[in-house]
Amino acid sequence: MKFYITTPIYYVNDRPHIGHIYTTTIADIFARYHRMLGDDVFFLTGTDEHATKVVVAAAEQGLTAQEWADRNAAAFQETFRKLGISNDDFIRTSQERHKRKVQQYVRELMARGDVYLGEYEGWYDAGQEEYLTESKAKEYEYKSPISGRPLVRKREKNYFFRLSRYEGALQRLLEEQPDFVRPDIRRNEVMQRIAEGLNDVPISRLGAGEWGIPVPGDEQHVIYVWIDALFNYLSTVDTPERERYWPADVHLIAKDILWFHAVIWPALLMALGRPLPRQVYAHSFWIAEGQKMSKSLGNFVDLEKIDGYVSRYGLDALRFFLASQGPLGINDSDFADAKFREVYEAQLKNDLGNLINRSLAMLQRYRGAVPAATSHPLRAEAENMVASYRACMDGLDLTGALRAVGSFVTRANQFVEESAPWKLARETAEAGRLDDVLYSLAESVRLLAVVLEPVMPSSAAKIRAQLGIAQRPGAWAETSWGGLPVGAKPGEVTPLFPKVET
Ligand code: MSP
Repeated sequence: MKFYITTPIYYVNDRPHIGHIYTTTIADIFARYHRMLGDDVFFLTGTDEHATKVVVAAAEQGLTAQEWADRNAAAFQETFRKLGISNDDFIRTSQERHKRKVQQYVRELMARGDVYLGEYEGWYDAGQEEYLTESKAKEYEYKSPISGRPLVRKREKNYFFRLSRYEGALQRLLEEQPDFVRPDIRRNEVMQRIAEGLNDVPISRLGAGEWGIPVPGDEQHVIYVWIDALFNYLSTVDTPERERYWPADVHLIAKDILWFHAVIWPALLMALGRPLPRQVYAHSFWIAEGQKMSKSLGNFVDLEKIDGYVSRYGLDALRFFLASQGPLGINDSDFADAKFREVYEAQLKNDLGNLINRSLAMLQRYRGAVPAATSHPLRAEAENMVASYRACMDGLDLTGALRAVGSFVTRANQFVEESAPWKLARETAEAGRLDDVLYSLAESVRLLAVVLEPVMPSSAAKIRAQLGIAQRPGAWAETSWGGLPVGAKPGEVTPLFPKVET
């Protein structure tokens, strides 16, 4: 099966921060999971470059918009590379391959009568170069929410997309395919807003020769940045070699950009007669130390902070923290230092790390190699864990999957206490029982390496090395109990998650 997963493409004028890194890391985990299932995976991320702000920021630096975008896109790419993100491509909307396709799509929409030249009139914030809705303008007493200067009533010729035509079709989509927007609460929000009625939307702004993609056949206009950006998901795979990936299986986003993905995007695709993505999953937000992250507070969990965690605790610990504590679902999550430390200490160092370390150390000390077993005391629990892990992962419930793994680790640690291998080792009559205990523990450790591989790939490799088994990435078939070869010799056994001094 093919599996195509995307992240939003990030505004190139921002510096990468925890928000971008979170969505991309989560997408990476699902991509790795599907590769493990043997799927033909395509995982896409990239940068959204044609915002007018880019021109302003570039000018301040004495650069062209393209030079500025090149620099910042490189920063995103470098960040994702350092964080071990396994994306298959990185799309930049200023690339020719994208621009060409977007023009083609807009031409098609025009030919089908879904794009027309109309006039837009509204309250314009000249400083921000954007129109405000009537209600927002009123709320701010017809002054710019940013600069406080009076808004101007402005009329502009724009190309419009006939969104209104698709109101019924969108309603049906959300009703008949309840999984199209997840979680449910987000789907309800979208349905309520559609029920209020859909107006046609401008898809261009005036500006000959400006930074952006010209409207085909009318170079006085450039395509509105959001329309340009949404098309990335299609443009990247709209080639003979990659067309098998369309439609996308999951567009992973946060709730801030749900409307564009759940309404505008499927409507554009309907208008183009293209198959629709299977799912838009909108997660919630990270806040930082109990507070919303914002430019004015300057409290973003930025790259510097993130690098600090990676160098102190390791990349896998960061990935585990994001995956197990992150806002997949309806609640926001707090990125708090104390919480990070607690998760590291309790779940990684004490539970998982300790289980692996003591299991392998005892295997080494008492047997030196994996013994044959006659009974398998942890087998049923392990099989349950694998089954619920899989069900959760297939439903994008990463936290649930890790909870299943965590409960199994707790159970296995209890089993160590109950069976007390150090006592069995002193009784020759208990040799068979000790073999069973050591095999069950070592086999559990092996299974943990397989299921944890998407989340913590380098720890999974270390576990395999310590266990003395093949260094290839796990495959789903390896989650069957009993795969550990008798006679395998553990390598050097060292703590995977050592104590971190703070
Ligand atoms: N360029 C548009 C998206 C176009 S997609 C066709 C954009 N870019 S953005 O740089 O602002 O990125 C928004 C996305 O970043 C969110 O949807 C989410 O994936 C991620 N996050 C940004 N801040 C976040 C948090 N505080 N918490 C979690 N994720 C957040 O919008």
